[in-house]
Amino acid sequence: MKIKEIYNLAIQMGIKADFRGEQGIRKFLDNKRKQYEKMNEKEKQEFDKEALENPYLDSRIYHIADDKDIKKVLVGVDIEPAEVLMAKEIGDIDLIIGHHPIGKGLAHLADVMDLQSDVLNFYGVPINIAEGLMKERIDEVARGVNSKNHQRTVDAAKLLKMNLMNSHTPCDNLAAKFLKDLIEQRKPERIGELIDLLKEVPEYKEAMKIGAGPKIFVGNPENRCGKIALTEITGGTEGSPKLYAKMAQAGIGTLIGMHISEEHKKEAENSNINVVIAGHMSSDSLGVNLFLDELEKQGIEIIPCSGLTRVSRTG
Ligand SMILES: [Fe+2]
Repeated sequence: MKIKEIYNLAIQMGIKADFRGEQGIRKFLDNKRKQYEKMNEKEKQEFDKEALENPYLDSRIYHIADDKDIKKVLVGVDIEPAEVLMAKEIGDIDLIIGHHPIGKGLAHLADVMDLQSDVLNFYGVPINIAEGLMKERIDEVARGVNSKNHQRTVDAAKLLKMNLMNSHTPCDNLAAKFLKDLIEQRKPERIGELIDLLKEVPEYKEAMKIGAGPKIFVGNPENRCGKIALTEITGGTEGSPKLYAKMAQAGIGTLIGMHISEEHKKEAENSNINVVIAGHMSSDSLGVNLFLDELEKQGIEIIPCSGLTRVSRTG
């Protein structure tokens, strides 16, 4: 496979697993196009045209040094210059694939957060409330990533002539869909049962060995789960802390997330919402693995690094 084919596969898989459905994505892109068409020439020139085709601007190809057939990839959760050097040291790595966004993918992280409004709406939060509260938070995230050294890893890849891309939200969508299906199939009643169910997933089982397995952050094992929502697995990064009260009103009883800040945790507690934290690197690994399985099926060799626990589900 060529880099562009690998990249397009990630985007297509992300769309298929997206909470909004393929039609929802089409509407999202149509809306972007309408905004673009209304722009004046100067605005059009400054506009990132990829936004018209790609619903996941936090996932990009950053550098193509050699557009060869890809046989071996180095894949990690966070790709920094150290990983680029590692790829060089290993020697025959054709492409480095990261999970978390870097470069212009990081600069556009806030763009994918719109997805969370739709996910919240799917779980019963009125769309006006979800959009209103997310808007504040999206602006905050957009300002927050502004201070980052965006191009550091991309510069390293250019200097060392390494191919580099990442897939963030497409993979997080795969993890969210996997967990949603698992929960709908097994319907855990109490928080303890939910934790036990998560612990059956190999990525979480591995994480437990280093003390990073699924944990209850709010609630106790005896609590009833009520409606379990996966509002915090995909869609960029954490939403607004003001959303928990609205989620409780919408009838959500338990949230499963990858990670949670203290401020968010307190708000969930105040709203009597149980919070189960599945784990960050392990949840990211789950989503990335579901994508990598498709590369493995194409005969591509995968070398995991930087927090990725590789589990293959191809056999
Ligand atoms: Fe992550």
